[in-house]
Amino acid sequence: MRLSLPALPAFRDLRFWLTLSAAALSGLALALPPVQLQRQSFNLLAVLDITGSMNTRDYRMNGRPASRLAMMKDGLRQMLTALPCQSRLGLAIFTERRPFLLFEPTEVCDNFEALDREIAALDWRMAWEGDSRIASGLYRSVALANDLSADLVFMSDGQEAPPLAWTGGPHFEGEPGLVKGLIVGVGGYDLSPIPKFDAFGHETGFWHPGDVPNENVNAPPPPGAEEREGFNPRNAPFGGTASAGHEYLSAVDEPHLKDLAMETGLRYAHFDSFQNFMEAFKGAVAARPTRVTVGVAWIPAALSLALLVITYGALPALDRRAAGAPNWRHKLWRAWDKRPSLHEHRGRLVAVAAIAIAIALAPRSAHADPSEQLARGAYLSRITGCANCHSPRTESGDLVADRLMIGGDHPIPAGALARVYPPNITPDPQTGIGKWSVSDIVKALKEGVAPDGRILSSAMPWRTQSSLLNEADATAIAIYLKFLSPVVNRVPPAIRTKETPAP
Ligand code: HEC
Repeated sequence: MRLSLPALPAFRDLRFWLTLSAAALSGLALALPPVQLQRQSFNLLAVLDITGSMNTRDYRMNGRPASRLAMMKDGLRQMLTALPCQSRLGLAIFTERRPFLLFEPTEVCDNFEALDREIAALDWRMAWEGDSRIASGLYRSVALANDLSADLVFMSDGQEAPPLAWTGGPHFEGEPGLVKGLIVGVGGYDLSPIPKFDAFGHETGFWHPGDVPNENVNAPPPPGAEEREGFNPRNAPFGGTASAGHEYLSAVDEPHLKDLAMETGLRYAHFDSFQNFMEAFKGAVAARPTRVTVGVAWIPAALSLALLVITYGALPALDRRAAGAPNWRHKLWRAWDKRPSLHEHRGRLVAVAAIAIAIALAPRSAHADPSEQLARGAYLSRITGCANCHSPRTESGDLVADRLMIGGDHPIPAGALARVYPPNITPDPQTGIGKWSVSDIVKALKEGVAPDGRILSSAMPWRTQSSLLNEADATAIAIYLKFLSPVVNRVPPAIRTKETPAP
């Protein structure tokens, strides 16, 4: 079934034309620029309450009791999988009265592994204070989401510790509804005991009545307190006996969270299952159209490959069938034995070229070239928040480009006893880490050990965060740090926090 075209040997058959088209398509694949498309995606900041009551086990996962925190981590990891590519997810933990940004909103598909690891590592031990002032924490989270132009997902059981003063809580000073998002109410509706842990993080039982204040100690005495036996206006419980209450037990405080949602213009939903959470979430936040650049070169490349398969696979087979070949082994031998004619030779050369082009087109992987490593280091140091701690801020709380990593001006709690200023990590040999090698820095990030053998305190989140970096990422960050201009800046010494009170 050979088509016979007029004389000229090279233009004689279909095979030649098919091969030529394949080569042309490969050429097109190389030349075709990527196109811009519009897609829906999300830009989110998830803030997770990690205070003590989040350890309450009033959920069930795979048939076993699960803590609120475990349930939320699972929800976040599922959400990470469910978000369309180009969406960005940032993560902050909340304890005491402010959110702490672990990383800024980051594209979810390219960075899936890193994000998933960060979520898996979330732990209540990251909490720097036992208090949880939900209202203040929420207001600050709204402001943070606004700064990051992100929508907010705030996950909390709503339990204020200490309880809000009877005079009322703090007030929202932002513009309600400016930041969109969802408050996720976490926890069961029935009161459950809250697990208690010792200083080493071992569970030692549950909180009991009298362990936790039932009243706010900083508020004026509530009306009627004078009637209490042994009334003393100076201190809660404003009387001789502890006021009755059930703050040692915990259930989701829905009325409080709903009030907060109303005040801030966010939506509220209770977390029952991942499905209902995702539905509520999609109703509360805005899908944003994003322009994405999509490579389309694979289309002509694939067509080209298909033509080659037809030319050198399907056509010869048809040929053989038309010739009524007795058996395929015999045919194969003949094909091998047959000397190709000139135009077939040429066709094969074109085919080889086309395949080479198609193959050259296929792998677009990133190799570790130094400038790429540097860019990656800069990027990683941004999303992991090194600069947030290790840089000073302006009055309005902004970072300044040429003062990054020169040492922070906010001391970070290291356990209960001290606060440590994040040191200068630019390559200045005296006040920074100029004497450290790249592998010294990698070791500090991954193992928390300085070159002189000193173990870094928990103020530097190496256990919970930087030790999770893989070798390549830690190296990229180290290379980036070595590349910064050295700045002379000595941070103040650590501060002891627990002073004995003056008599
Ligand atoms: C929560 C704030 C915080 C974050 C985030 C943070 N650090 Fe630190 N870092 C500190 C503090 C505080 C210290 C001092 C700890 C000590 O001396 O015990 C420190 C110490 C270090 C040191 C040792 C410096 C020295 O002179 O001893 C290096 C290096 C370092 N950090 C690098 C990084 C890098 C890189 C990142 C990002 C991946 C990062 N840090 C993220 C707070 C932070």
